[in-house]
Amino acid sequence: MNTSDSTKERLLLAIESSCDETAAAVVREDRVVLSSIVASQFELHQDYGGVVPEIASRAHVRNIIPVIHAALQKAGCQPGDLAAIAVTTEPGLVGSLLAGLTAAKTLAMSLEVPLITVNHIDAHIYACGMGLGHSIYPCVGFVVSGGHTNLYDCRTATDCRLIGSTTDDAAGEAFDKVARILGLSYPGGPAISKAAESGNPDRFNMPRPMLHSGKLDFSFSGLKTAVLYAARGVPGPAQLSETPPDRVADLAAGFQEAAVEVLVEKSRQALRQHGYRRLCVGGGVAANRLFREQLQQMADRERIELCVAPLDLCTDNAAMAAIAWEYFEQSRFAGLDADVLPGLVRFENPRR
Ligand code: KG4
Ligand code: ZN
Repeated sequence: MNTSDSTKERLLLAIESSCDETAAAVVREDRVVLSSIVASQFELHQDYGGVVPEIASRAHVRNIIPVIHAALQKAGCQPGDLAAIAVTTEPGLVGSLLAGLTAAKTLAMSLEVPLITVNHIDAHIYACGMGLGHSIYPCVGFVVSGGHTNLYDCRTATDCRLIGSTTDDAAGEAFDKVARILGLSYPGGPAISKAAESGNPDRFNMPRPMLHSGKLDFSFSGLKTAVLYAARGVPGPAQLSETPPDRVADLAAGFQEAAVEVLVEKSRQALRQHGYRRLCVGGGVAANRLFREQLQQMADRERIELCVAPLDLCTDNAAMAAIAWEYFEQSRFAGLDADVLPGLVRFENPRR
């Protein structure tokens, strides 16, 4: 074991490979991020309009060592300086997770330092507090990404309980699929956001699914289908080539406004139902400008504290695996028999 007793200088290497970004970061025990490297695979997946698991796994295997190397180099440290290795093991794509876990186990074993497994969703919420200088817990945590649209009752960093989730597509997945319908690039979120800038959100009457259901669950497939029909006609063959650019902009704006309204309203309902005064929002969709603006307006009206993850920590990265220090402090280490947990366990804390 590394027996460095210089508490302040202790360093942790975090590895993230749950989906289509290969990422590594070196984070000091005081949570200062010394380096954060992200190798995106979006070029490999863009022709498919979404992540292809097998392609993602292979790319992780190719990228992981160079990414780890770059993270150590940028942080100016050697493998021997590390006090622990953290790695995302849940939830995510099984092959992708395994690539990261195998690298992490190898490093932990050869360096004789503890291995810490990280829940990717907990990490997305933790990212909301990084750089703030105070704890964000307790709070309602909201992870809005390509794979998840989940609301959590977060009592501590390591005790987050699912209170609401999507019944079909995740919000980011809906952005990606709608972008594909409209002939926009992948990933769809930034492309829709850009197209919407010149669009009229009121031209098409878009549904707000489950807005007043009284539950904290979401549904985005009906909204996606509404865009499909508005773009192509009902019923009818695809006529995208006949869709003029202003129609695309209006549809992008209408979709974005409807999706954002539902996300903001459900987070308001979660705060009220669970009696919290703080909302923490992370995940790729939290990078959306309209979403951030509407969340802030709601927070001002409700007089609650809003913590949205910094832009560079919204989409997948390894720096947010700084949450591993919370486990380190509780000596909650994983064995070399640790396995990946690809699926999300609903309505209970998946780790514990
Ligand atoms: O958190 P993330 O990087 O990966 C997952 O864990 O899924 O989120 C990726 C998702 C994609 O669906 C992407 O379209 C969406 O986040 N996204 C956005 C924006 N930037 C990324 N959605 C809306 N607006 C954005 N600006
Ligand atoms: Zn993510």
